[in-house]
Amino acid sequence: MTKKIQCLISAGPTREWIDPVRFISNPSSGKMGYALAEEAVARGFEVDLVSGPVSLTPPPGVRLHRVVTADEMEKTMKELLDRAHLVIMTAAVCDHRPKKQWSEKLSKEDFPKNLEWVKNNDIVRGLSAARKNGQKIIGFAAETTDAMAHAAEKLATKGLDWIALNDVSQKGIGFASDFNDVTLLSSAGETIALGRETKKKTAQKILDRVWP
Ligand code: PMT
Repeated sequence: MTKKIQCLISAGPTREWIDPVRFISNPSSGKMGYALAEEAVARGFEVDLVSGPVSLTPPPGVRLHRVVTADEMEKTMKELLDRAHLVIMTAAVCDHRPKKQWSEKLSKEDFPKNLEWVKNNDIVRGLSAARKNGQKIIGFAAETTDAMAHAAEKLATKGLDWIALNDVSQKGIGFASDFNDVTLLSSAGETIALGRETKKKTAQKILDRVWP
């Protein structure tokens, strides 16, 4: 019997808590990552879906791992890395978390005028540094300016095989939309525009390229 392709996908936002009732996050809905997970299952892959807080129903057949913070996402992705053939990091991970997290709700009066921040680890960079031969790692780049240059830099510095660039300053695509407009860049120098599509179709086109 041939061994099934193991696919590890992250989706959605992370939340970084200030106190028990307040956090910093971003508008990721999880739609792009869930579409990739659904398509990967349709192709017969076994899928671990590591999801930040979203309101989507997980696609049937995935192994769902719910996380909230970037730290939790990092820990879970690292635990699952070993068995993965293909890793796709669509999650919109918060780059920073508050230096201090209050264990009780801050009153309006006590809420600090300025917050200090610490950097979260770059999860996908850590995964690519730890990978074994043959594992493929795909990142996403959400950009608003100098999109191509920033995506190319992330592809190289994060040690990725492919990066899926979406210019999220474009109306009607990217965060929370049912549509996306992705350009794939590869470490081998390819640039492939997938065009404006539903996220379902975008997921199909991405998998056609990265795992033909
Ligand atoms: O969820 P949806 O509403 O469907 O929206 C989809 C999307 C816009 C979130 C998705 O298409 C997308 O662009 N995801 C990546 C968002 C992002 O965080 O991009 P970035 O350019 O900041 O990060 C680049 C890459 O590094 C990403 O693969 C990201 O997952 C990864 N990263 C970033 C920061 C961090 N601390 N660790 C990481 O691994």
